[in-house]
Amino acid sequence: MQSKNMNGLHLGIIMDGNGRWAERRGLSRSRGHEAGVRAIRPVVEAAAASGIGTLTLYAFSSDNWRRPAAEVAALMGLLRSYLGREVDAFREAGVRLSLIGRRDRLPAGIVRRIAAAEAATADGAALHLRIAFDYSAREAILAAARLADFATDRDAFARLVAGDEAPDLDLLLRTGGEKRLSDFLLWESAYAELVFTDRLWPDFGEGDLAGALAEFHGRNRRFGGLSPSAQAA
Ligand code: IPE
Ligand code: IPE
Ligand code: MG
Repeated sequence: MQSKNMNGLHLGIIMDGNGRWAERRGLSRSRGHEAGVRAIRPVVEAAAASGIGTLTLYAFSSDNWRRPAAEVAALMGLLRSYLGREVDAFREAGVRLSLIGRRDRLPAGIVRRIAAAEAATADGAALHLRIAFDYSAREAILAAARLADFATDRDAFARLVAGDEAPDLDLLLRTGGEKRLSDFLLWESAYAELVFTDRLWPDFGEGDLAGALAEFHGRNRRFGGLSPSAQAA
């Protein structure tokens, strides 16, 4: 089975390393998150130009509520300002924005901004940018299981987990040096190519994205079958 993503690749990025980036500079972790937000725009622009149809950015995991209250508050503030600031640019660039994850624990003002940003960018066709915020893949799978019944087949279950577009992940990239998934898109990653880089997220740029994509395009994806050359032999 080939990738189901008809509108370009699905790239997922675990944007990790903001805190270490700040600590190395003697700055507060919140400053690292601010630098992390600044790193997003060039990557989004490069993604749209690189054959990526869907870009899912992991910004806040459901386990990140364990961080100190001041850091969580700083992250909420950054999401709020990001949503307010970027919508016009997204509309101009044809970027459709969605948030995945829980909304019931977010401040009401942010929830309203999310809905407004999603509505304002709904027609964007150049790139689907999904921000995972208060997101847990295991929660998403559990929620799907609650909706499923014995007749639910794998494709239908995938839609319950991931939404109607059910985009399987083609490439999962994690910055910051850790080699784990930290509860990100577990179902969708079944055949994702994994790329881990030591680059801290605030330092990640277009060149790093190009490198990761080159590595991806050099991989031999078999989906359990044989590569075309072995098939012919
Ligand atoms: C990723 O950076 C952003 C969030 C998880 C919110 P970190 O804050 O995890 O940065 P490190 O891993 O401590 O460097
Ligand atoms: C994963 O990073 C979540 C995000 C990048 C948003 P963490 O820094 O929270 O992950 P762990 O704790 O190192 O696994
Ligand atoms: Mg981290």
